[in-house]
Amino acid sequence: MRLIHAVVELREYLSRQERIAFVPTMGNLHEGHLQLVRMARERGACVVVSIFVNPLQFGPNEDFDKYPRTLEADCTKLQGLADVVFAPSVDEMYPEPQTLYVELPSIANELCGAFRPGHFRGMATVVLKLFNLVQPDIAIFGKKDYQQLAIIRLMVTQFNLPIEIVGAETSRADDGLALSSRNQYLSPGERTEAAHLYRTLNEVAKDLQAGAEALAPIELKARFNLEQRGWQVEYVSVRSQNGLAIPSQNEQKWVVVAAARLGKTRLIDNLEVCL
Ligand code: PAF
Repeated sequence: MRLIHAVVELREYLSRQERIAFVPTMGNLHEGHLQLVRMARERGACVVVSIFVNPLQFGPNEDFDKYPRTLEADCTKLQGLADVVFAPSVDEMYPEPQTLYVELPSIANELCGAFRPGHFRGMATVVLKLFNLVQPDIAIFGKKDYQQLAIIRLMVTQFNLPIEIVGAETSRADDGLALSSRNQYLSPGERTEAAHLYRTLNEVAKDLQAGAEALAPIELKARFNLEQRGWQVEYVSVRSQNGLAIPSQNEQKWVVVAAARLGKTRLIDNLEVCL
């Protein structure tokens, strides 16, 4: 496995590779990330993992400074799985201030976007830059960040990027909590409670499958249940799997998406529901 920090070296090395499978990450890797890398291994001759905590996608009051940076441990985990780890510095990715951004449609201002203004713009911009640098044949993203995945799919389609985007199922702990680098911020008590988010999504799924007439009461019930348990809920919303649009009357493929805070930790999760 080769650790590369410089764009020139990355381009030179990858110019000699055949089929490239790419997993972009912000590091602090857990089993969920490694699952994505294993999927990449099955699909590409050369597996590239990027590790870059992208300042453009963090708001002024978010955890950019405290986001865990664990490059050495990450590289140990990737031994035998990845061929290249690309870990650029901020100056390497942004040698001059980034004044051009990917302009996103209104879905980027809904759900997580309503609570993290500019997040998806910064995310899409860095992903486009990484795609241009790595030029992968295939790129793998976790479905846990459902809105991120929807926006990347849109960007790849509308910008005609010749990249196959694969969405990987969310890896979960035994109690159902979606694996996330931010779980380590939870206190032991919060960690036990955190599994309730996924249980709530499952309750919403049951209500949907029971043939609910209207979505708003189900969403409100889920919100209320979480709030009763001490969560600060940003949203619980039932959307179409297709681009996270508001579901039509005869929607067959829903996804329940939610974001809520336990103490200072913001957790997101989702559950696909089909009729
Ligand atoms: O999902 C993430 O870890 C990040 O948003 C990504 C896709 C690596 C872009 O910085």
